[in-house]
Amino acid sequence: MKIRSAEFISSFADVKKCPAPDLPEFAFIGRSNVGKSSLINMLAHSNSLAKTSSTPGKTQTINHFLINKTWYLVDLPGYGFAKGSKTKRAGFGQMIEDYVLKRENLGCLFVLIDSRLPPQANDLNFIEWAGSKDVAVALIFTKIDKLKQGELQKNLKVYEKALLLRWEELPAIILSSAAKSQGKDEILDFIDEALKE
Ligand code: GTP
Ligand code: MG
Repeated sequence: MKIRSAEFISSFADVKKCPAPDLPEFAFIGRSNVGKSSLINMLAHSNSLAKTSSTPGKTQTINHFLINKTWYLVDLPGYGFAKGSKTKRAGFGQMIEDYVLKRENLGCLFVLIDSRLPPQANDLNFIEWAGSKDVAVALIFTKIDKLKQGELQKNLKVYEKALLLRWEELPAIILSSAAKSQGKDEILDFIDEALKE
């Protein structure tokens, strides 16, 4: 699939105000600063469609982008650095929980993981929680341009091992770099397949 058009539609803190759930949608979630907004810009060939920052906590609302006039790509706030998040129910923030639980047209939640880090408890917990709610999950390892090939392969092996301690099967795993425009075809092919289902 090629992205021919990408339009910003809305930015809301409340899932009830989001666009009517009448088109399929795919969302990017993950720790603050992992590169969710940058990856949306990379897919959409834009520098500014989604707002990015080197400071964690840039995206604070649910942002809908209409792609090819047929499906939504959604940029969500990060978890992990959010103010007061530890006191919230499952620790991911009410907005994220509501979004995941209530967005009936959600085709797949892409959980972004920083490829440079060892497995983080909050990422594993989030994947587990989303899975327990019957949400389809795929993983995207980000910022692979920041690692040497050997380090990347080592980190991936460690991660897969951590995943297999909790689950029998690995989810789909895609490697990406927004800086080097890597992983675009894999992500769009994955979405294309999901749209056909
Ligand atoms: P929040 O909105 O705060 O949750 O963050 P986010 O996950 O949307 O991250 P964002 O896209 O704003 O990127 C965070 C920082 O990482 C920015 O300084 C980006 O330039 C940088 N970054 C994102 N993706 C990549 C990548 O693939 N490679 C490199 N080298 N830097 C990246
Ligand atoms: Mg963001």
